[in-house]
Amino acid sequence: MTHNLRYIKQTALLMIVLIITAAGGATGADADGDGVVPLALRAIMDELNRNMRAVTDAVSLENWEQAAITALRIADHPQPPMMEKLRILSFAGSDVRKFKNFNSQTRLAATHLEEVAGKADGQAVIAAFAALQSSCLDCHQDLRKPFKEHFYGRQ
Ligand code: HEC
Repeated sequence: MTHNLRYIKQTALLMIVLIITAAGGATGADADGDGVVPLALRAIMDELNRNMRAVTDAVSLENWEQAAITALRIADHPQPPMMEKLRILSFAGSDVRKFKNFNSQTRLAATHLEEVAGKADGQAVIAAFAALQSSCLDCHQDLRKPFKEHFYGRQ
């Protein structure tokens, strides 16, 4: 009996430590100080945004090589850590396929942008950029609101 109780206590303690470690590992800092720690996905999105701006800079300078390199960075954007990915997949539930489709649309559009930038075809780069931006918007219009409500309890 006593032995069992000690075992249960030890297991409970181990689980608490694991949960705290996992939560700490999967989250970043509370940058805007509102007590809600953003998901790693948000930093990934911010980086996508910076890279989109970098593409428009490259187009203005007709620096197609830079546009191609940046498009590749957008296509190969990092993924959230495993724990967070699981949380996102469980949030997506029956919409997992839809979520993944949006993601692959963005990857495809960015890959196409890289291709036409590699050919220094300015007009095609601009058209491909617009298509890429539409792919971002498609996911945002469909999923961002419920996503933020789920993870942050607000929009
Ligand atoms: C598969 C869905 C999906 C795709 C595709 C997607 N996003 Fe997002 N994006 C989200 C979600 C969900 C959020 C909300 C994340 C959060 O607040 O934690 C978000 C948030 C953002 C934000 C706001 C970040 C902030 O600091 O609040 C920016 C900027 C952004 N995305 C840029 C982009 C760009 C640029 C692309 C395309 C190159 C893109 N996203 C493609 C789902 C997507």
